[in-house]
Amino acid sequence: MTDQPQTLAERAAEVLNTADGRQKTALSRRHAAAWFASRAGSGPDIETGTASPPMHPARPEKPELLHPRDVPKRKPGSEAGRIALLHAVAHIELNAVDLHWDIIARFSHVPMPMGFFDDWVKAADEESKHFNLMCDCLEALGSHYGALPAHAGMWRAAEDTAEDLMGRLAVVPMVLEARGLDVTPGMIEIFRKAQLTQAVEALEVIYAEEVGHVAYGSKWFNFLCGRNNLDPKEVFHALVRKYFHGALKPPFNEEKRADAGLPPDFYWPLADQARDLPGS
Ligand SMILES: [Fe+2]
Ligand SMILES: [Fe+2]
Repeated sequence: MTDQPQTLAERAAEVLNTADGRQKTALSRRHAAAWFASRAGSGPDIETGTASPPMHPARPEKPELLHPRDVPKRKPGSEAGRIALLHAVAHIELNAVDLHWDIIARFSHVPMPMGFFDDWVKAADEESKHFNLMCDCLEALGSHYGALPAHAGMWRAAEDTAEDLMGRLAVVPMVLEARGLDVTPGMIEIFRKAQLTQAVEALEVIYAEEVGHVAYGSKWFNFLCGRNNLDPKEVFHALVRKYFHGALKPPFNEEKRADAGLPPDFYWPLADQARDLPGS
């Protein structure tokens, strides 16, 4: 028997099982290119298929993963602080690569339009680029990914929602990635003040592309609500309360959230300073 060509879900699992960050993201980008070539009819056909993804993605030996309260805090105005910030973003991006491939590998048995797979492959490809941009910035400052400890527990949301696609969409793109839209402009300002153009440009790419990831989340969340005849806002509140531990933190980037299809009545009622909305 000859080897069957790898399905998309198997390719996703292969990325999840690759530990080294640069290798993981290179493989991720190759699989994304192969998928889009298949979709355009210019490369071998790739089926969506199914796979058994690992419960935890493979991770490099470094960085050491610590509980968030044990990760040393550094002043953002210092060189060490800026390196720590870039390192934290690199860590988030690497997790995001795995999160986007995981939604494909873990839920490919759910019948979904092809556009669902296109969106998450594109998001995974962009996260791979983001990780490499952050690594390049760290290396330009004489550091590297793995040089500092990083937050443990970033995979918690994936574990909690391993059997709930709507829960996954609610918590990962629509809460966690939406939070990225809130905090990235402030980060860009820190690097602009320090005149670190490479980091400013990299973070601007990340900021622009993350709007799309949140939008994919809200698109497919709304699609599933429509398919199941559910009220999106109510289900969103219920799922975030079930799977997300803690309140959402204002200030919110209402403009970019709106661009991504997240209306204020989705997130304000979950905020730690819940605000009365007109008419609510
Ligand atoms: Fe990203
Ligand atoms: Fe993202």
